Amino acid sequence: MKHQNVISSFTPFITFLWFLFSLAIADLNSDRQALLDFVDAVPHGRKLNWNSSSPICSTWVGVTCSQDGTRVVALRLPGIGLSGPIPTNTLGRLDALRVLSLRSNRLSGSLPSDITSLPSLHHLFLQHNNLSDEIPASLTPELNLIDLSFNSFRGSIPLTVRDLTRLTGLNLQNNSFSGPIPDLNLPRLKHLNLSYNNLTGSIPPSLQKFPNSSFEGNPLLCGSPLSLCSSVIPSSSPSPSSSLLPPTVPTVHRNGSKKKLATGAIIAIAIGGSAVLFLLAIIILVCCLKRKDSEQGGVLKGKGSSGGRGEKPKEEFGSGVQEAEKNKLVFFEGCSFNFDLEDLLRASAEVLGKGSYGTAYKAVLEEGTTVVVKRLKEVVVGKKEFEQQMEIVGRVSQHPNVVPLRAYYYSKDEKLLVYDYIPAGNLLTLMHGNRGSGGRSPLDWGSRVKISLGAARGIAHIHSEGGGKFIHGNIKSSNVLLTQDQDGCISDFGLASLMNFPVIPSRSVGYRAPEVIETRKPTQKSDVYSFGVLLLELLTGKAPLQSPGHDDVVDLPRWVQSVVREEWTAEVFDVELMRYQNIEEEMVQMLQIAMACVAKVPDVRPKMEEVVRMIEEIRQSDSENRPSSEENKSKDSNVQTP
Ligand SMILES: *[C@@H]1O[C@H](CO)[C@@H](O)[C@H](O)[C@H]1NC(C)=O
Ligand SMILES: *[C@@H]1O[C@H](CO)[C@@H](O)[C@H](O)[C@H]1NC(C)=O
Repeated sequence: MKHQNVISSFTPFITFLWFLFSLAIADLNSDRQALLDFVDAVPHGRKLNWNSSSPICSTWVGVTCSQDGTRVVALRLPGIGLSGPIPTNTLGRLDALRVLSLRSNRLSGSLPSDITSLPSLHHLFLQHNNLSDEIPASLTPELNLIDLSFNSFRGSIPLTVRDLTRLTGLNLQNNSFSGPIPDLNLPRLKHLNLSYNNLTGSIPPSLQKFPNSSFEGNPLLCGSPLSLCSSVIPSSSPSPSSSLLPPTVPTVHRNGSKKKLATGAIIAIAIGGSAVLFLLAIIILVCCLKRKDSEQGGVLKGKGSSGGRGEKPKEEFGSGVQEAEKNKLVFFEGCSFNFDLEDLLRASAEVLGKGSYGTAYKAVLEEGTTVVVKRLKEVVVGKKEFEQQMEIVGRVSQHPNVVPLRAYYYSKDEKLLVYDYIPAGNLLTLMHGNRGSGGRSPLDWGSRVKISLGAARGIAHIHSEGGGKFIHGNIKSSNVLLTQDQDGCISDFGLASLMNFPVIPSRSVGYRAPEVIETRKPTQKSDVYSFGVLLLELLTGKAPLQSPGHDDVVDLPRWVQSVVREEWTAEVFDVELMRYQNIEEEMVQMLQIAMACVAKVPDVRPKMEEVVRMIEEIRQSDSENRPSSEENKSKDSNVQTP
């Protein structure tokens, strides 16, 4: 009797669950149909493997499903030659979609509003197409990032952008937008580019913190950070009440299951509860098995899909990444990046330089984040040792004067390191980069002192870690990067021990301490020597490098010693520095520090922390006697033109 009761109350439950289950399947089916409708209507240069009989989540190029495999959450079809308009009521039906990337195609016509109002849409990448007309005013409040740059959009920027409180990036550059810029008081907005449009009026106060290059190329735009508005132009930020556009509250259709339940049913729920739990467990189990399947499918798909993307040729740094390891990017604690290896491999990359340890790439991720990826060559250590070393590097690089390592990847054929991108470049380029063409080194004396102090602090920090045993082993001007506020920052720490160098890389020869050339074993004292050479480089403006076309290495310490021995004059100093007054004494002090560092006998050289102290002393007298080198420059020119 009781038994029967349970079973009969259980029946509506099964029906209900079955209904939910079929709902999920129907959703994936309707996503599939929406995608097929889209691709049938849009001509594309490359064939897509979207076969209605193959599993969509694991085999369809560019399609990513939710974890449980029930919905399509991302669609990425960059550079596959899609052309013509985006039909309405196709992609607009993918109502679980979070990421849509159709960048670098030849899409034209207007942007359907059913796409911009997709309820879950976070990232929208449509840059480099030929989309036109106005952008829809209905924008889903979930949007994090909108990139519509390099299209033919026109009309005004919809006021509804003001409601996108989650927005972190807005790229509208290189279109034909006109009218005033709305006052966007968006707390999370980090990247803004409105350049090269026909925008008019004054830049609203909320956006004045963005750089010049966010607004350039709009001839009728004015106000900070561009030039001042002449008083004739009225401030034309529209007032909120003048909005003619309908407010955006995208309707969310999510009410299928919200029917009122009868009291009887509620009782039935209570009784059947335990049975339901059991059923759920089975469903979860089935789903897990299914997911495992699709993951394996994903592994197979990888190679084909990357081959299927016809984007413009770009630099590749991940060709040795094994498909099965696509998620093995190891991030360090406290790192705020949230991309995965696949995102990284998909990023557009350019070569920054080829160094002693491999090639460095600048990689711009779809989300707009820029990082540096270093692809190591000739790593001689095994995986375990590599990982241990990376842990050390990750920990030690937590210092303002050491370039932080954020993540790494290790496999047999590929070793990648991910660092912060430091836009100001390295000291080598800044010192010697444009001198050949008659350009002047932009570094005044104050900057040089500051950079050398930062670099010295970075090295001293490294030397103080690991129980005072760590060394850098490759100090040179190309390994000193400049932070935004012109501080020196040491890069490439911890890599020397991963490599085996039978030959000293030619670019480092000029920095090597004499004993290292014989022993091949760098020490903290040899780091001090290399730093001394770096100081001489800053003082003399000469590079201790093998210059292209010359066989000889400039032995800076020997050269300086010979000049100084003959006559203690200003001969050795960089002519660029001669423009500033009252700095000779500081330069001579710095020269003495440098000469102490490059002493032949290692034990005579000061320790790095002493070097830091000595430079700090110069700096103190610097700020006491000589407010700033800028002032000196103007004093200087005053003297010349009375
Ligand atoms: C872009 O579209 C416009 C029409 O909206 C057309 O005049 C123009 O030629 C197109 N440009 C390209 C490069 O296809
Ligand atoms: C904006 O885009 C223009 C050109 O497309 C570029 O030159 C500029 O650097 C960009 N500005 C910012 C802040 O990204």
